[in-house]
Amino acid sequence: MKIEADYLIIGSGVAGLFFALKAARHGSVAIVTKRERRESNTQYAQGGIAAVIDASDSVASHVEDTLAAGDGLCDRAIAEAVVAEGPEVVRELLAIGAQFNEVSPGVLSLMREGGHSHARVVHADDMTGREVTRTLVRAVEALPNVTLYDHHLAVDLIVDVEGRCRGARVLDVQDGQLIEALAPVTLLATGGCGQVFLHTTNPRVASGDGVAMAWRAGANVGNMEFTQFHPTMLYDPGGPSFLVSEALRGFGAVLVNDRAEVFIDSLKTRDKVSRAIVSQMQESGAECVYLDTTVKDADETRRRFPNIYQHCLGAGIDMTKQPIPVVPAAHYMCGGVCTDEHGQTNIAGLYAAGEVAMSGFQGANRLASNSLLEGLVFARRAAGHARIEAPVGKGVKPTAGGKGVVEAAQLAERRQALREMMWNEVGIVRSDQSLQLASAEAGRMAKEIEILYDGMALDAELVQLRNLATVAELIAGSARMRLESRGGHYNSDHPERDDANWQRPTLLVGH
Ligand code: FAD
Ligand code: SIN
Repeated sequence: MKIEADYLIIGSGVAGLFFALKAARHGSVAIVTKRERRESNTQYAQGGIAAVIDASDSVASHVEDTLAAGDGLCDRAIAEAVVAEGPEVVRELLAIGAQFNEVSPGVLSLMREGGHSHARVVHADDMTGREVTRTLVRAVEALPNVTLYDHHLAVDLIVDVEGRCRGARVLDVQDGQLIEALAPVTLLATGGCGQVFLHTTNPRVASGDGVAMAWRAGANVGNMEFTQFHPTMLYDPGGPSFLVSEALRGFGAVLVNDRAEVFIDSLKTRDKVSRAIVSQMQESGAECVYLDTTVKDADETRRRFPNIYQHCLGAGIDMTKQPIPVVPAAHYMCGGVCTDEHGQTNIAGLYAAGEVAMSGFQGANRLASNSLLEGLVFARRAAGHARIEAPVGKGVKPTAGGKGVVEAAQLAERRQALREMMWNEVGIVRSDQSLQLASAEAGRMAKEIEILYDGMALDAELVQLRNLATVAELIAGSARMRLESRGGHYNSDHPERDDANWQRPTLLVGH
């Protein structure tokens, strides 16, 4: 079997689905997604979408907040363009049936989150991602020229001898067949790489596949050292990872230590709050800190945060009566595949949008709720720019894997070792020594996995482990290069921001 379309989209989160809606006006669209179509980071987004909706708010203010969070590394022109398009993409979601909270008919309810100087977060209770996904999946499924392929894992991009991307090799995970998905335009919308760290808010699909595939194909990659650690993941050893939204702090919940003392302004940006939590935990030896919502009206808390309330209750915590135990965890990849203002990469025919991309919008640290916004805006921009210029290439020969079979337990062990190493050495607080060690370790692990990969029959777990190892090398290598601290990158041997030498993105040039 072979998939052929005018547009190939890899990934079915907010960026992939919104691009599909737009591109379908110009041609046929194939979306390949490695699990079920609703499974993505987008699905779990809680807080919402940042956009200038209120009359007392302004584009200038949202831009300044974005730049401040980005710690000197955002591209101002990109920030201005994305923020200016925010209200429009929200209106487009409403027009296709998205149901966001309102304060009165037709007037959206707006929340405030850390780093924002206005209430500007459009939301659907504390399950905004679920509503965005529901709306977009339904709209895409109604289009006759869009085909969604669930359980299809892109393994590598196909680049022809002229350096143009022609699509991807895709593993049909259910029947084990490797097929070609060919298109003159390919959009990478594969999301982030939280799974490279032991503790993460991200679901299992977030294994950095897009960055790894693009890097292998010769794309430029940037700012991979900037991992955003979210300060408040529920501390629930043995339980599933679960985010406790920043919107709760916007609502009035306060972070306290194990002595019930307030130790930080809870609405500071995530990098600062995460580091303050780590130092509290190190000082006291406590395994977590607490987010205290009990100061707020219990009915209002339950009404506004039904999902978080129910989940915590299931974990034995009634958040209206007791503080929620929380710890920081890897949350968002600020770097990624470098793109221009249209989402175009340095490889002809290859676009990237959403978390996989480094567009210049997020800089060194993303402002809360600016990610769904970026995904929507860049999906729309890319679809408006991509032209179906070249016919589908002929004679592109994929290399197949070997014949061996690797044991699942062996893969799981390597995955765990990699994630532990990344958490310990490239976590919230890094040092020259830890980064040197991580860089060497990630390189060694990546080589071992590559040897395994070459000899084995294609296997979804192995493909993703290979990508995690590539991404680990890129993160550790970039972090080692940056001899300062900024945004999501903190090196205790270089604790200050150094604008004279480092006010620039870290660029890894594709080969
Ligand atoms: P994703 O939504 O992650 O989608 C990626 C898709 O690609 C998935 O369908 C995945 O299965 C697929 N895929 C990956 N690799 C392959 C492959 N090799 N082959 C085929 N398919 C592949 N941001 C906000 O702005 N507001 C919020 O309130 C918010 N809350 C969040 C809460 C949580 C718990 C998390 C984890 C993130 C949150 N974020 C939030 C961040 C935001 O959700 C993501 O950055 C954003 O949704 C990314 O969208 P995306 O389309 O780029 O990628
Ligand atoms: C959250 O709700 O805290 C997550 C928001 C985000 O990642 O932007």
